[in-house]
Amino acid sequence: MTETIAPHGGHLVDLLVTGPDAERAADEARQHPKVPLGPREQADFEMLATGAMSPLTGFATEKDYRSVLDDMRLSSGLVWSIPVSLSVDDDGLKRIGRADEVALTIGDEPAGILQVEEVFRRDREAEAESVFQTTDRSHPGVSALDRAGDWLLGGRVRAFAVPRHDTFVEHRRTPAETRAAFAERGWRKVVGFQTRNPVHRAHEYIQKCALEIVDGLLLHPLVGETKEDDVPADVRMRCYAVLLDSYYPKDRILLSVFPAAMRYAGPKEAIFHALVRKNYGCTHFIVGRDHAGVGTFYGTFDAQKIFERFAPDDLGITPLMFEHAFWCHRCEGMATPKICPHGDEDRLILSGTKVREMLRHGERPPPEFSRPEVADVLIEALSAPR
Ligand code: ADX
Repeated sequence: MTETIAPHGGHLVDLLVTGPDAERAADEARQHPKVPLGPREQADFEMLATGAMSPLTGFATEKDYRSVLDDMRLSSGLVWSIPVSLSVDDDGLKRIGRADEVALTIGDEPAGILQVEEVFRRDREAEAESVFQTTDRSHPGVSALDRAGDWLLGGRVRAFAVPRHDTFVEHRRTPAETRAAFAERGWRKVVGFQTRNPVHRAHEYIQKCALEIVDGLLLHPLVGETKEDDVPADVRMRCYAVLLDSYYPKDRILLSVFPAAMRYAGPKEAIFHALVRKNYGCTHFIVGRDHAGVGTFYGTFDAQKIFERFAPDDLGITPLMFEHAFWCHRCEGMATPKICPHGDEDRLILSGTKVREMLRHGERPPPEFSRPEVADVLIEALSAPR
């Protein structure tokens, strides 16, 4: 099988033990102190186990934690932009005592074992400044960091059960599976698209511009934890289904879900998103306006500029940058400032807040902003009490 691109660090990590080894590990885990995984950590655990986080083989040790915060590199020198950490509070730390190994639990059931190489104190300030570039608690990432435990457990993970999901089952694929799907379709160049939103015309436009120069598109919506006012993943998945049905060539698109939680770390998360998509087999990755941003915390193109800090070989995956896309009435088509000479008065630009308000009142945004099929799914979901 021809692989599209090497995983980050050269090979796909697989931390999942199976068969009799898994049974043995599960028995061992029952003897260990338990560390319950929260929603973000469960997603990280799943991505560690399946190699989506290659080359990581566990939760960050202090050396890697520091090195990622200070230099955006693991201590090995490989680029990595957000520490993947596991925290406990004082009580949790007492429960663990001097144990060399702990059981990582999901819903009270052990799913893996962490070999505790180190316990160290989290540096909240440094982490917030480095990852989110702010210590303002109104930033959802900073406030999540604020609520998390003070102590970080670093070490290798052995997984014997990946989180079981009863949602989007047919769209769950590990990196090995997306790679196999690309190979089966004969795609050598594949562009990955991260999203936490319904796909509106602007998203569709940049995806299709990218698709013009590659073989296939991995539509990879994030379905892990997001903030309260983001459109829920099940609603988004219904939007993607109606959109793909009517407007996309089936043999050029793979819809698969990305289990990660959203961090809202803007530029740092854009690098993380790109590297992880490389592990899923993407050769290219779309970065548009305010990628992974929230509120006004980041400049519109900060998440693009950060890529300039790395040599192409450092990342492997090629970012495809797009300016702000919109419908232009005079161009009579989708455009960006790069290709459209007209002014704001000709451009259809609606804020997220405005669009949400229209949908909540049962009103379709203009078809040049959202496909009517997508708008109808959103109206049904957002105008009804959940
Ligand atoms: S994100 O938090 O997952 O980045 P979103 O789902 O809105 O949010 O965006 C998905 C991708 O589309 C990101 O790369 C983002 O930069 C890009 N994007 C969103 N809207 C636009 C737009 N109007 N013009 C250009 N790029 C856009």
